[in-house]
Amino acid sequence: MVHLGPKKPPLRKGTFEGLPQSFLKEIEHYETLFTVDKTKLKSITDHFVKELEKGLSKEGGSIPMNVAWVMDYPTGKETGTYLALDMGGTNLRVAQVTLDGNRSFDVVQSKYRLPDHIKVGKADDLWDFIADCVDKFLKNDCAPIEEDRIGDKVFIGFTFSYPCLQSAINHGILQRWTKGFDIKGVEGHDVVPMVQKAFERKNLKVQIGALINDTTGTLVASNYVDENTQMGCIFGTGCNAAYYEKVKNIPKLEGLCSPDIHPDSWMAINCEYGAFDNEHVVLPRTKFDVQIDLESPRPNQQSFEKMIAGCYLGELLRLVLLELTAQNLIFQDQDLSKLETPYYMDASFLSQIEDDPWENLGDTEVLFRSYLGIETTEPERVMIRRIVELIGTRAARLSMCGIAAMSKKMGYKSANAGADGSVYNKYPHFKQRGAQALADIFDWDMAPSKYPIKVVPAEDGSGIGAAVIAALTRARFEKGLSLGVAKKK
Ligand code: GLC
Repeated sequence: MVHLGPKKPPLRKGTFEGLPQSFLKEIEHYETLFTVDKTKLKSITDHFVKELEKGLSKEGGSIPMNVAWVMDYPTGKETGTYLALDMGGTNLRVAQVTLDGNRSFDVVQSKYRLPDHIKVGKADDLWDFIADCVDKFLKNDCAPIEEDRIGDKVFIGFTFSYPCLQSAINHGILQRWTKGFDIKGVEGHDVVPMVQKAFERKNLKVQIGALINDTTGTLVASNYVDENTQMGCIFGTGCNAAYYEKVKNIPKLEGLCSPDIHPDSWMAINCEYGAFDNEHVVLPRTKFDVQIDLESPRPNQQSFEKMIAGCYLGELLRLVLLELTAQNLIFQDQDLSKLETPYYMDASFLSQIEDDPWENLGDTEVLFRSYLGIETTEPERVMIRRIVELIGTRAARLSMCGIAAMSKKMGYKSANAGADGSVYNKYPHFKQRGAQALADIFDWDMAPSKYPIKVVPAEDGSGIGAAVIAALTRARFEKGLSLGVAKKK
């Protein structure tokens, strides 16, 4: 019997027919501004490779290339039940992960939205919020934990998705807040004791055994299920990646490793490449990108991230729309108070516009009315949809320069990059646009299914990775192998 299969999403032809000349001119202007062609992608990638190398050098560069002290590839045979805590830019997750030793796992998890006020509030409020969530999870959602204890405490892998300088797996000095966070008294300090104290305030018998970046978690989790995975990437509120480097190719580690860490061993590197091109040498920044940077809590930081990550896409569109309203081209005589509020829209606003299947962009009309209190005409919506496509396409294309740069640097002939994050998982066409950008950078002309470097989904990878890293850490601990820089005698 022949089945019809799932219904394909309706295709919108989307012509510019009937658009006033002034709108066509604007479209052309934004196309020039936001299009990143093949040649530019290649030159960005080449510069990126050099910057990754600089980050590994003793002198350092703007990409931190943080050593993660995960020194083993998983075998896929790891077993055990572990607790994982995952603090991203938008959500907090607490999970109990059971690794079954057969490249598969089981997860029970609870997800909590991080309240906006906490992101710019007091440090202890954040840590207490985290401790509360762990407490609720342990009391209500989690099966009793028999194994994986340190003394009388349960071992927890803490995924903290901000740049941390680590001298050991259970240690991490926050270099700077990213993704719009701005909490005083944390930058320059080890976050592990701060969270640990909050656990103690609540009498929680939980011990942070490993501090992990979400990219390192995604790398390790993806490699646990598929050994062809060499990179772990996040395209979400922020943007970053991790990969394994040979210790001997990390000059800044020279003299810092114990003899049990052989120069040929692997070391996971959390690149923190959202900071790529903080010197503004190669990225095609528009005046909107410059404005977002200057008005952010940390100007001149995370230049790459600010052009492509979910945290900023809504703001980018908002600034373009404000420019069009200032020229009296759109939304005349309407209440613009919501549109004038910084960060009023997030990336899902753009996703909904790109997802609108109707020729007259009827869903977009309802979205503007209900969310911004603005009535739109059809030509306005057609122009806005094109601008949104340009912003989304630029984000996807630039995002791939990081993956291409790691691949070039490491000389991967064939590799997968496990990917997670709201933009990767939810933003329409991101995957196809990204694959096309990789093909442009490497001049591939085969079918996309044959591309040697592929970005593959790794949803919730960071929590699972925390569990796999906990297992790897325990194994090293039991063998008496080092988990950080050599202790000075
Ligand atoms: C930001 C953080 C980084 C994280 C990324 C994705 O770039 O600095 O640590 O990996 O966002 O969440």
